[in-house]
Amino acid sequence: MEKKPTIVVTGSQGQLGRSLKDLESEYPQYKFVFLSRSDMPIHHFELVRQFFEGIQPDYVINAAAYTAVDRAELEKELAFQVNAEAVGVMAAWCHQHGAKFLQVSTDYVFDGKGNHPYVETDPTGPQSVYGSSKLAGEQQAFQFNPDCIVVRTAWVYSPYGKNFFKTMVSLLRDKPTIHVVNDQVGTPTYGRDLAKALLDIIASGKWQPGVYHYSNEGRISWYDFAIEIQRQIGTDCAIVAIPTTAYPTPAVRPAYSVLNKKKIIDVFGVSVPDWKLSLTDCVSRYRD
Ligand SMILES: NC(=O)c1ccc[n+]([C@@H]2O[C@H](COP(=O)([O-])OP(=O)(O)OC[C@H]3O[C@@H](n4cnc5c(N)ncnc54)[C@H](OP(=O)(O)O)[C@@H]3O)[C@@H](O)[C@H]2O)c1
Repeated sequence: MEKKPTIVVTGSQGQLGRSLKDLESEYPQYKFVFLSRSDMPIHHFELVRQFFEGIQPDYVINAAAYTAVDRAELEKELAFQVNAEAVGVMAAWCHQHGAKFLQVSTDYVFDGKGNHPYVETDPTGPQSVYGSSKLAGEQQAFQFNPDCIVVRTAWVYSPYGKNFFKTMVSLLRDKPTIHVVNDQVGTPTYGRDLAKALLDIIASGKWQPGVYHYSNEGRISWYDFAIEIQRQIGTDCAIVAIPTTAYPTPAVRPAYSVLNKKKIIDVFGVSVPDWKLSLTDCVSRYRD
């Protein structure tokens, strides 16, 4: 019997990692190996090489990242080790051993001052340590592996880990009033949709290196997102719109981060569901 191609997923306990795990049975043509931070901390470069030597992956999806956006302002070195140097190490191993490397990046590589959906060739200009470290990760990936794919995404939420959706569900149930910023505009990305898009890229058999953008469809503010979450779960909490200036954070968030998905749809034919429909799916899975 022919051996199934092996897909290694790093950061398997994160939102994306767990969403990929949920889809494992829908892609029976692949063997999956899920590695959590405790299995394989990606900033331990020699360990990563040893794991990869042992597993001999055909594909690596790097779902591991230093994602503590505010803390990164104080832990720059670690953020760059995880989000940039480790990416270079994995990308290089894949290049040297004929494996395909898929890196996940972020809208934070942009300065957020745009007013049209960002295309992949728009100039970058990260405003935070996290954004700079992720941009450095993209550069390392291509430097050591010109055949790699980088998918930038934004506003990821899911039933797992820490994210805006889960925070809102909890606050909307517990508090009489909450305040949510209404001057940051973007599109949510349901982790399950992102996971499916990444696996569909692999399964398409049309591997084409480059940068791609992926989120759900739509254009909303965090306030709009909170209102829709409330509509779908049903609570009495008052939601008050506030400007970003009323909610200062150590790291700057992009004011505008809508991503243009035309390229990823044209090249791989992946599905980009409407953000409200995907939210409904997440709400029902979270309830279960
Ligand atoms: N969340 C968003 O809104 C968002 C937006 C745009 C782009 N992205 C990108 O999307 C990708 C997936 O993000 P996510 O939302 O799934 O993030 P997440 O839930 O924070 O998951 C990241 C995972 O990486 C693991 N990790 C952290 N440091 C590690 C290390 N040194 N070695 C190995 N694993 C490590 C974490 O381990 P622990 O579980 O032990 O913490 C966690 O399981 C990332 O590349 C992120 O930059 C996310």
